[in-house]
Amino acid sequence: MTYSVLLIGATGDVGSKIAAKLAKYKGQLKRVAFLTSTAKSTPEKEAKYAEVPIERVVGDFEDPETYRGFDIVICAIHDAFVLDQIKYFDAAFAAGVKHVYPTEFGADLTHPVVSKEPYAVGKIEARKQLEERARKDQSIGYTYVITGMFSDFILRPHVNVLGLSEDRRSAKFLGAPDAVLTTTHTEDIGEFTVLSTLPSHLKSFNERRTLAVEGSTHKVSEYFGAVSRYLGHPIDVEYLSRESSYVYEEEQKAQRNLEAVRYNSVLRTVGFGACVLQDVANSSYPELKARTWEETVKQML
Ligand SMILES: NC(=O)c1ccc[n+]([C@@H]2O[C@H](COP(=O)([O-])OP(=O)(O)OC[C@H]3O[C@@H](n4cnc5c(N)ncnc54)[C@H](OP(=O)(O)O)[C@@H]3O)[C@@H](O)[C@H]2O)c1
Repeated sequence: MTYSVLLIGATGDVGSKIAAKLAKYKGQLKRVAFLTSTAKSTPEKEAKYAEVPIERVVGDFEDPETYRGFDIVICAIHDAFVLDQIKYFDAAFAAGVKHVYPTEFGADLTHPVVSKEPYAVGKIEARKQLEERARKDQSIGYTYVITGMFSDFILRPHVNVLGLSEDRRSAKFLGAPDAVLTTTHTEDIGEFTVLSTLPSHLKSFNERRTLAVEGSTHKVSEYFGAVSRYLGHPIDVEYLSRESSYVYEEEQKAQRNLEAVRYNSVLRTVGFGACVLQDVANSSYPELKARTWEETVKQML
C-alpha cells in the first residue's frame, strides 16, 4: 500500500523543502504532485513553478475535481491565507482525500501564551474548523507538524531573529537569556513531513496526530553562545523586555503596519519561552538525523 500526496504552497519557504523531499521519496509513494491555481500566473511565478521537482497539477483550489485520486493533502501556505485552506480541505474531502496537513510549522498552538498571540489566531481557528469536520466524519484525519522556530531563518540576514548588529559584536534581542527555545532546520522539517506520510508512519488515514520535530532545544543565551564560539569573539546582548514589545506593537498598529505587529508577536513567543516543544517525535524517526543549532551556525555563518 502506498499513498498519493498533493502539496499546496510548493514555492514557499517550507513548501519548497517539502516538494524536494517528496521528489526524494517518490519511490515510496503512489503519486506526488503540487497544486497551482488556474488563475492567471506571472512569468516570475512560472519560473518558480518550473523549479519544483515534482509533477504539477493546475486546478481550482476549491473544486473537488482538483483533488480526485489523492489520499493526502499538505498545505504550506502563507499565514495570511490560513483560513482559505479550510475551503481547500472541504473540496479535497469531497473528492475522497482522507488525510490533511494544515499549514502549521511553528510553535505548539495549545501553549497558553501562544494561543493569545495575534499571529496564532488564524491557525487556531483553522484547527478548530478542521477538528469539527473530523468529529463529523470519523474516516478523515489530520497531522499538525510543529517545529519551533526555523533555525536557518534565525540567521538569514533579512530576518535576523537574534537582532545581531552588522559586525555581529552586539545584539538587541526581544526575549530573556534563560528562556528555552526549540529550533529546527527547514530541510529537516521537509524530510520529517514527508516521512510522516509513508505507511510505516501513517498507519491509518483517520489518525489525528500532533507531531513535534526538533533540531535543538536550548536556553536563548546558549544560542548566542554557539554563534559567539563560531565567530571567535563575545557578543554583547541587550535583552529587550516584553513590555517594550507591546509599546512597539501599539506604534505599529497606529501606522497600520500589520505585518510588523504579526512578526513582533512571533518574536515574543520565540524570546520568552513559549516556543519550546514537548514530546518530540524524533526518536520514532530514526531515518532523520536532524541538524543541531551548532551545525546550522557552521553551515550558515
Ligand atoms: N516556525 C518558523 O520559524 C516559521 C518561519 C516561516 C514560516 N513558518 C510557517 O510556515 C508556513 C508556511 O510559510 P512560508 O513562509 O513557507 O510561506 P511562504 O514562503 O509565504 O509561501 C507561500 C506559499 O503559499 C502559496 N500561496 C500563497 N497564497 C496562497 C493561497 N491563497 N492559496 C494557496 N496557496 C497560496 C504560494 O504559492 P504561489 O507561489 O503559487 O502563490 C507559496 O507557494 C506558515 O504556516 C508559517 O507560519 C514558520
